[in-house]
Amino acid sequence: MPVNDIPVLTLDGPSGSGKGTVGQLCAQRLGWHYLDSGAIYRALAVSVARRGISARDADRSLEVARALRIDFRPSPPDGVEVVLDGQVLDAELRTEETGELASWLAAIPVIRGALLELQRRYRREPGLVADGRDMGTVVFPNATLKIFLTASAEVRARRRYKQLKLKGFDVTLAHLFQSIQERDIRDSERNASPLLPAAGAVALDTSDLSIEEVTTRVLDLLQTKLGAERGPTSVTTE
Ligand code: C5P
Repeated sequence: MPVNDIPVLTLDGPSGSGKGTVGQLCAQRLGWHYLDSGAIYRALAVSVARRGISARDADRSLEVARALRIDFRPSPPDGVEVVLDGQVLDAELRTEETGELASWLAAIPVIRGALLELQRRYRREPGLVADGRDMGTVVFPNATLKIFLTASAEVRARRRYKQLKLKGFDVTLAHLFQSIQERDIRDSERNASPLLPAAGAVALDTSDLSIEEVTTRVLDLLQTKLGAERGPTSVTTE
């Protein structure tokens, strides 16, 4: 199948909107590949930090981005391991500090450009679920279905708090709330691929919805789209 015909479901939205959890569930149920594009920016942040490079040093950060060797490996029962230069990244990848550094690096246009092809390579048969900030606007503009997830900053901070606490991180709700708001502003106001709903995206506010409810809605919308693309398969007349 030509690569541009391989179906893609994009889930964009701010941190804590539910796109990661919903994206992984959708991919599992569809039997499709899953791309966590935020993990690519986070892995870059880890790599830059380990080399002692400042996130404001665009030239040296770009060199690191161009040489980034990253791999996603399924990690049963329900997770994915991120492998950077042959080494599994653990807690370091998910800290709020790594997220902040990633968001600084992600605002540099040449760095986004350097990571574009790497992300597009994940479009493989039978299909791809891709989550991030610009999946529907820039990386996969001809996606089958584009979803934009939102939720109030309070709800998102509480979700992140629960996730990070479960992983054993020492965080406070107040700090997360502030960090999420700062990251939202940086991600939405940057010139390079700002966080925006793609044209034609379906917006879903997940503040009062369960993960299961969001997943079911997204999969229903996708089935409708895929059915419409295939065209009527049978016409019954009485
Ligand atoms: O989604 P996650 O919080 O892991 O992403 C970390 C940061 O990476 C985001 O705050 C954002 O700045 C950046 N990012 C991006 N474009 C994407 C995915 C993530 O700019 N497609």
